[in-house]
Amino acid sequence: MPNVSIAGSTKTFEVKEGETLYDSLYEQGEVLPHGCLAGSCGACRVVIVKGKENLMPAGVIEQNTIDSVRSELDPKTSQGIEIRLSCRAKVAGHVTFKPMK
Ligand code: FES
Repeated sequence: MPNVSIAGSTKTFEVKEGETLYDSLYEQGEVLPHGCLAGSCGACRVVIVKGKENLMPAGVIEQNTIDSVRSELDPKTSQGIEIRLSCRAKVAGHVTFKPMK
């Protein structure tokens, strides 16, 4: 099973492949910041620190929301960071992330 870690903490979770970041951690008692849980509000945005290749590609709904989130950020500081939505991003391997404020 893949492991998911939260950067800056000692927390690591074993998750089922194909589950979303949010659901897999919620089932283990870790409630991540969230809102709609449907991919449209962006409240669950996270930065992927390691293993971006180990998340399944973003669907249209997730990508549209990521694009909207990114448009609100300073391009100088946000360039090159991998943003995903924990309620939509499905795990396929080891990932380290941190919630985004
Ligand atoms: S909780 Fe709204 S987009 Fe994930």
